[in-house]
Amino acid sequence: MRRKVTKAVFPVAGLGTRFLPATKSVPKEIMTLVDRPLVQYAIDEARAAGIKEFIFITSRGKSALEDYFDESPILERELRKKGKLEALEDLKSTNMESGAIAYMRQHKALGLGHAVWCARRLIGDEPFAVMLPDDVISAEKPCLQQMIEAYEETGGNMVAAMEVPRDKTSNYGILDVKEDMGSMVSVKGMVEKPSVEDAPSNLAVIGRYILHPQVLKNLNKVKTGAGGEIQLTDAIAQEIEGTGVYGYRFRGQRFDCGSKAGFLQATVAFGLARDDLKDDLRKFLHSVMQIDNAAE
Ligand code: G1P
Repeated sequence: MRRKVTKAVFPVAGLGTRFLPATKSVPKEIMTLVDRPLVQYAIDEARAAGIKEFIFITSRGKSALEDYFDESPILERELRKKGKLEALEDLKSTNMESGAIAYMRQHKALGLGHAVWCARRLIGDEPFAVMLPDDVISAEKPCLQQMIEAYEETGGNMVAAMEVPRDKTSNYGILDVKEDMGSMVSVKGMVEKPSVEDAPSNLAVIGRYILHPQVLKNLNKVKTGAGGEIQLTDAIAQEIEGTGVYGYRFRGQRFDCGSKAGFLQATVAFGLARDDLKDDLRKFLHSVMQIDNAAE
């Protein structure tokens, strides 16, 4: 039997410079997608996949994120008193079991690989997931759950993968495919943020990973890579000859909420998926499009 994946690492130490000035005082992960903070989508996805321990890699200025996970007895009491039971249920769905969350501070911004490495003592010697909350994935079956099911068959290391436009490869980790088996590919190389000329394919790594603990050991000695940072991609690539690396083409739509355009698109898509919002939103979008078309 393969060991179950029950721990997930959430790197949330980034400065969020692309969302300044908002991120001057609000951590990016707390920014609201419809009515839930970005990070809640990742937590819900992790829970659905059977994750029991949530490890946040934070940094200075992220205390609002820690507060968000506290229970709010005064608010709950008030909602109960006023009979606002739906809001109460919604609020309670965000409560985390005591001891399920750990925070680890990344003292220096040395890159994603370094952030994940900060969790090494909490992970120990078991497989674990990494989720980048910027990548929001809307899917019938949550992406991490799809991956864990696939991982239970293959073992090794697994990264979520998606085809991206050729001219965008320099934004992603890119896979060099050994064998394409449809939803799954085996990998013979990985490059972090290659130029169009150097990209071995247009199959990009998206922010969901299931990793063998050996990757943490590799991170002990990985040298600075693309962008002068310690890259998770480089530590995973070292396992190609070891525990093996697979890309998993998930079923679902991914939004890059690390960018303004992606965040806006996600807001519209998630708004349209909500019964209480979709009619008004659709009408509004229609009228905007009409005005836009008339102006052209
Ligand atoms: C990170 C990873 C990259 C991956 C991307 C997915 O980059 O380093 O390999 O493709 O997430 O969103 P970042 O976007 O943090 O620069």
